[in-house]
Amino acid sequence: MILRARVLVSLVTLSPRQRVLRSFYNFPSREAKLRAMGGRLSHPDADLKDKVVIVTGGNTGIGYETSKALAFMGAHAIIACRSTEKGQQAIDQIKEEGQAAGKTDLKLECMKLDLSSLQSTKQFTEDFKQKNLPLQILICNAGIFCVPQGKTDDKLERHFQVNYLGHFLICLELLPCMLNTDGDKRIVLLGSSATSSGVWDPNNLHGDSGYSRLKFYGNSKLYMLMQMVALQRRLKDSGITVSTADPGFTRSGMQQGDIGWMKIIAKPIVAMGAGRSPGQGAMTSINAAVNPALNTQQPVYYANCKPIRILRTAANEQHQEELWRISCDLLKDYMSPEIWSKYSPSTETAATAATQDSGNNDGKNDQPTTTSDNEDKPPSAEDKPAGDKPAEDKPPEGEQKDDTADDTAKDKPAA
Ligand SMILES: NC(=O)c1ccc[n+]([C@@H]2O[C@H](COP(=O)([O-])OP(=O)(O)OC[C@H]3O[C@@H](n4cnc5c(N)ncnc54)[C@H](OP(=O)(O)O)[C@@H]3O)[C@@H](O)[C@H]2O)c1
Repeated sequence: MILRARVLVSLVTLSPRQRVLRSFYNFPSREAKLRAMGGRLSHPDADLKDKVVIVTGGNTGIGYETSKALAFMGAHAIIACRSTEKGQQAIDQIKEEGQAAGKTDLKLECMKLDLSSLQSTKQFTEDFKQKNLPLQILICNAGIFCVPQGKTDDKLERHFQVNYLGHFLICLELLPCMLNTDGDKRIVLLGSSATSSGVWDPNNLHGDSGYSRLKFYGNSKLYMLMQMVALQRRLKDSGITVSTADPGFTRSGMQQGDIGWMKIIAKPIVAMGAGRSPGQGAMTSINAAVNPALNTQQPVYYANCKPIRILRTAANEQHQEELWRISCDLLKDYMSPEIWSKYSPSTETAATAATQDSGNNDGKNDQPTTTSDNEDKPPSAEDKPAGDKPAEDKPPEGEQKDDTADDTAKDKPAA
């Protein structure tokens, strides 16, 4: 009924070009479909006064909107980015938007972080620790997408280091700050439906025996999902919830790459207003970070603000532990002794023992919300604009602020 009404309204109000576009890609819009299914992109307005949040890559795109929303809720928001100049510009812009929205007392700062350098990543964690602040929310948002084959100065594949390994180091090094903080604490990793193109191939983590941009982006997101489950396993009863949020296809810096299909398809579609606004894209991570109902201490994967099942490739506990071992090995010169002694596979006992006991575990022993075969999932959201998979479970409970309607209206392709 609602969809029919939208069809009629659209026929009257949209220009011919908008109608063609909608029928090609976005009509009925993803959000309309979601609402018709009872789901919505929304998050509650939490009180984050006196709470400290870190958003990596918070200077632009989804990270910018996430930092802004959390700062508007009262948090001390730390934008961790590779250019402090860009970070300061983002802060000025958020404050300007705050003025217009009547939020005058915003607390924001930016800190230098270049995830393509392990030295810089380690330095960032040291600089944060120096501040002696609590840490309630850590959002691992920064990322690169489908970059040409290449290695960082640390001689690691670029997606692997920037998207996955650097965030792994930050999570581990900042764990003591979180563990010393009272109450509800959350780590949110940014996922992607491109995970479905990822494979677990420990012999080719750095593309030396074959590389494709989308596959290696998907791999890095697969590793983040695996990290979520392995980390949460170690943080039982710690008060920390580790989750992953897929923002869905969102207009951002991600589609500005130079490869053929991005130039020919993604850029023009995005230029015409298709996909989610960065504000909409940020909803799922914000909800995972602040919704009181999601303090689950379970590794849950969210898309469209609702839990979805995890790929079998990510749920394999043996593979998760293998990745953990490889990651610790690569980071051994950068992990502080305290973290090394607690979390490196040579010294930790519980999780390793669990892995050995589990033998050829195909993931069935993992957390109920995360294990299932999801291999039919459509290609990546970045690869294919309409690639989000609708969530299947109940929407989160709690008082919800629904920004979908406004943003959907804004999202109409320009006339
Ligand atoms: N947009 C989508 O459709 C989509 C879909 C699924 C998942 N995601 C995920 O959502 C997250 C945010 O992406 P977005 O869409 O907002 O993209 P974006 O606009 O390109 O923003 C990416 C952010 O990551 C930062 N970054 C890149 N390399 C970095 C490095 N070496 N060190 C530190 N920061 C670095 C960028 O900093 P600079 O400004 O300095 O470049 C920027 O702040 C990513 O993890 C992405 O994989 C996006």
